[in-house]
Amino acid sequence: MSGTGEGARAIKSDQERQDPTWRQRLDARIDGWLTSQGLYRWALGNPVGRWITRRRANALFGLMSGFVHSQVLLACVRLGLFERVLAQPSTLAELSRQTGINKDALQRLLDSALSLQLLEMREGQRYGLGPLGAPVAAHAGLRDMIEHNAVLYQDLRDPLALLHNPEGAGMQAYWPYPTDIPAREPAQARPSGPAKPVSPAHRAEDPRPEQDSQSARYSALMSSSQKFLIEELLAVYPFGRHRCVLDVGGGQGGWVCELARREPALSLMLFDLPPVAALARQRIEQAGLTDRITAYGGSFTADPLPQGADLVTLLRVAHDHSDEVVRGLLQAIYRALPVGGSLLLAEPMAQPGGRPALSDPYFHFYLLAMGAGRLRTASELGALMQAAGFSKVKALPNPMPLHASLLLGQKR
Ligand SMILES: C[S@@+](CC[C@H](N)C(=O)[O-])C[C@H]1O[C@@H](n2cnc3c(N)ncnc32)[C@H](O)[C@@H]1O
Repeated sequence: MSGTGEGARAIKSDQERQDPTWRQRLDARIDGWLTSQGLYRWALGNPVGRWITRRRANALFGLMSGFVHSQVLLACVRLGLFERVLAQPSTLAELSRQTGINKDALQRLLDSALSLQLLEMREGQRYGLGPLGAPVAAHAGLRDMIEHNAVLYQDLRDPLALLHNPEGAGMQAYWPYPTDIPAREPAQARPSGPAKPVSPAHRAEDPRPEQDSQSARYSALMSSSQKFLIEELLAVYPFGRHRCVLDVGGGQGGWVCELARREPALSLMLFDLPPVAALARQRIEQAGLTDRITAYGGSFTADPLPQGADLVTLLRVAHDHSDEVVRGLLQAIYRALPVGGSLLLAEPMAQPGGRPALSDPYFHFYLLAMGAGRLRTASELGALMQAAGFSKVKALPNPMPLHASLLLGQKR
């Protein structure tokens, strides 16, 4: 933004302050009412006002205490409480013995979990699974994400420090990509300078040891949390109409392996950074699917994508990257597809115009702490797909858009 533009904006807002529109005057009036003690007293004195005020007060209290709620959840997960009471509803004394936490302290955790519907009271003063504890007991992926959120919440202890200096966030050490991972050769074997492009015709090499643990850690988390997404995809899209599917940024290969099992006529490819593609290759071998699935190692910022697929899936990848990288990636996918080929993109998407959405603040701050990418609306992503050449871009409504929403586009 040029200095002149900023000056013009400043002048405009000065003018607006001096000469507000009718809408601004009305908004200011409403702000005044809503913050007046008089309105509060009046609202509590009549049934409708009381109902509205109580709802808002509860919602605000929820915001204030949200951190405590998430820590109650984390404590339950770390103690394995949901699995314990699923196996056997238990009394306070039994749970105290099992967890090694004294009864007085544990009672507070259990009462908190009751009020958050994580647990519920059963016969004989036994604690059992509550409606919100049941999915946590059922899905290891959810428990892994709850545990992983501790890294984010550490960064959010001082939200202003994070906003001022996102580069200092601990979350960045968790996600090492995309900059310094070589495409094919170990760094020490390469002369200094830019990484050599790698032909995806080469399968993933074994990972370098120092990258191995970081890549394995985040890939394991992605793999366990991907299970929800897999169900969503299979529920809404007829993959059997394709011949060959390429999963870009495919992680450890959970999706391609599951898709291969569900659609026996499909052949599949996966493309990810070399250390991750090597992990995928191990998994593909373990699953006995090497004749159906090929894993390619490379970076989509530097290397061409494998050709031959008539459907590309891009799952939870774009939001990790800047618009510039996403533009290049979508163009590369477009180039790799034949005419008539499709791109299926799935990721969490922001609600347009700041409409209420519980998950948006989470992803906004997660990506800020991660130091890359941003949460986009479906229309922003659709516009990026169209700019890369895709047409007929449309949303595919899926049963649980909390994990991810889906967009489909075609090369014509
Ligand atoms: C958030 S994970 C999602 C993994 C998987 N698609 C899923 O939904 O579980 C993003 C994936 O993109 C891969 N990735 C990131 N940058 C990449 C790059 N430049 N080239 C290839 N893959 C990349 C990461 O290694 C990781 O596996």
